[in-house]
Amino acid sequence: MKDNVSGLVVIETEGEIGLIRLAKPPVNAIGLALRTAIYEGFKTLQKDPAVRAIVLYGEGRFFSAGADIKDFGKADIQPTLPHILKALNDSEKPVIVALHGVAFGGALEVALATHLRVGVGDLRIGLPEVKLGLLPGAGGAQRLPRLSGLAGAIDIICSGRDVSAREALDLGILDRLAEGAPREAGIIAARDVLAGKLAARRTDTRDVAEDLAAVKAAKARLKAKRPALQAPLTALEAVCAATLPIDEGLAKERALFMELMAGEERAALVHAFFAERATVDIPEKAAHPRQIDRIAVIGGGTMGVGIATSLLIGGYHVDLIEAQSERVAQARAGVESNLAGALKRGKLTEQAHDAALAALDCADSLDAAGRADLVIEAIFEDMSAKTALFTKLDTICKPGAILATNTSYLDVNEIAAATKRPQDVIGLHFFSPAHIMRLIEVVVAKETAPDCVASAFALARKLGKVPVRAEVCDGFIGNRILTQYRRAADYLLLDGASFTEIDGALEDFGFAMGPFAVSDLAGLDIAKATRDRKAATRPAEERYSRVADLICDQGWFGRKTGQGYYVYEGGKQQGGNPGAFEIVAAERRALNLPKRSFTSEEIVSRCLTAMIAEAVRVLEEGIALRPVDIDAVELFGYGFPRHRGGPMHQADLIGPAELIRRIELYANDDPQFWQVPHLLRDMAREGRSFADLNGALTGHVTKGSTK
Ligand code: CAA
Repeated sequence: MKDNVSGLVVIETEGEIGLIRLAKPPVNAIGLALRTAIYEGFKTLQKDPAVRAIVLYGEGRFFSAGADIKDFGKADIQPTLPHILKALNDSEKPVIVALHGVAFGGALEVALATHLRVGVGDLRIGLPEVKLGLLPGAGGAQRLPRLSGLAGAIDIICSGRDVSAREALDLGILDRLAEGAPREAGIIAARDVLAGKLAARRTDTRDVAEDLAAVKAAKARLKAKRPALQAPLTALEAVCAATLPIDEGLAKERALFMELMAGEERAALVHAFFAERATVDIPEKAAHPRQIDRIAVIGGGTMGVGIATSLLIGGYHVDLIEAQSERVAQARAGVESNLAGALKRGKLTEQAHDAALAALDCADSLDAAGRADLVIEAIFEDMSAKTALFTKLDTICKPGAILATNTSYLDVNEIAAATKRPQDVIGLHFFSPAHIMRLIEVVVAKETAPDCVASAFALARKLGKVPVRAEVCDGFIGNRILTQYRRAADYLLLDGASFTEIDGALEDFGFAMGPFAVSDLAGLDIAKATRDRKAATRPAEERYSRVADLICDQGWFGRKTGQGYYVYEGGKQQGGNPGAFEIVAAERRALNLPKRSFTSEEIVSRCLTAMIAEAVRVLEEGIALRPVDIDAVELFGYGFPRHRGGPMHQADLIGPAELIRRIELYANDDPQFWQVPHLLRDMAREGRSFADLNGALTGHVTKGSTK
């Protein structure tokens, strides 16, 4: 017998064994249709008197990635997963599952409700719900502890981490490891169960011992490490319910799950999940990427070294070119140290580490660029130095080679014009440390060829990065928004909030560090150099805070000099710098500014509103394709708290009318800085949200002035 119910599962029998194969590409996500198909298939096999055991397995790369995340927030429709899993658990016929690839979330919950679990090949399992602002709500928080014990389950569920098949076996989550095809592994296990060689058992019949020490330690850890997050602590509460009788535990778990499902944290984290994947939808996606094997990176500073490391980890051959011969060895040492770090953190195997080292050549001559399929320039931010370099590269590089600049704000059109091949020139803006940060802004200049853009996206994906398409403007997407965020913080400081209050408010909102702590880390001298360069073009009417310049005048450049906004000892922050407090107070006196007080809420609102207003201008001008691309930039390049979803997601929560009200209110202080973008007024009038704008490419919405 073979039956394909709704094209989603295949039901067949092999002797006494009934088989259910999940067949919903690409990841067998368990939405309503697949749920229903599994349940119908299961009932069919239950009724078949010839079937004595039932095997579940998946086709494709994975058993299943879990519940269909696109369904979140929709009404529960029968048969729900808990309902189906109860039926699996209660089955008189043994139910066996053979897992391969991944079994995450709801998929693992399916497995936990069966009577025997086989892990095939290099399977990874996990309950990553907390990463989506949820907890396992289909019995996972009750059944996992019944197999692994309370402490093991708390660790897995509250962290959401992946677990290897070997570890899962050791923890008692899996009953057997196997190699080969999941179908055969499942059949062999089912036969062994029927022959009495392998014990199959209902998970629900097992007991869970209390473990007060593990619960207490987990609670303290979560509160210290992730105080802003609701899901991990709620998940802990759900796991603790596993010591109750199973029906009570299941009911409690489901109630907590539904609470989280309705919450903002869940919505933001799901938005972030899709944002990470949405940015590859670009106008150039049909173009065929060029072949890239060998890459030259020019510039052996921090950026060049980080980029080279990232490319080597991605499996490319890299020529790292540093013009100052005395600095070549230092550049190589930098890459070696980064690779050693990646090996230590388990990001690279020993073999991959050695292969990466062998694929690195360092030189002081540009000649090596002649062999490259892609050249990435990472020298200092100076237009004349960059144009001179690109003119040279034009003569050295082979036809069809892509010439990329890592500039963070300079005009890529001007750089392209320094060559006779502007169609091959593109911006690849990596973020420091480039081998760790996932964002790459792919800056498309006027004449950049579509296949050049497609190649940049293909490269970024191969590196495991999040590429976001940006058009040319000063600062592209991210640095443009950062500038306004920083200005809002600087104005708050002048107007009366202290830098510790501002940092504290934004850290409570979820940023790992507030803007002043970040400045200290990045080096106050670096930002000063940028300000000095731009001084000549700064509009005369723009409000300018001299505080950072005055701190630099003291020789305080932040963490590296032991003092900045904060004082540091042995690299550890010791609190606000009294000298910096005094500089701020003196500057207020000099400007005759009254010291106003701001609540944390208003501090966050002003900084966030400034970001949102600039993000809307970035959209209006077509610099970013969609709101979701802006969120991806902020989440993966600028440390915007993931559980807040990004500035555009926040903008939808606040709503255009309220944003306009806030901007108009703040404009009483500074009408030059606080201006309402046209698009925001249009959206308020038409009742549109930024999520609505994500549906189609929205670039060039209303090209032109926004003021
Ligand atoms: N639901 C819906 N779509 C999913 C999905 C899911 N659970 N998991 C992946 N997808 C989609 C992705 O959005 C992507 O779609 P597009 O091609 O349209 O962008 C496609 O499947 C392929 O995914 P990836 O690009 O991520 O492929 P990958 O090979 O790099 O990674 C993966 C595969 C490891 C499974 C990864 O996608 C992943 O980790 N997925 C999320 C798993 C997860 O969090 N599951 C738990 C869900 S919550 C739950 O299950 C409990 C519950 O009952 C509510």
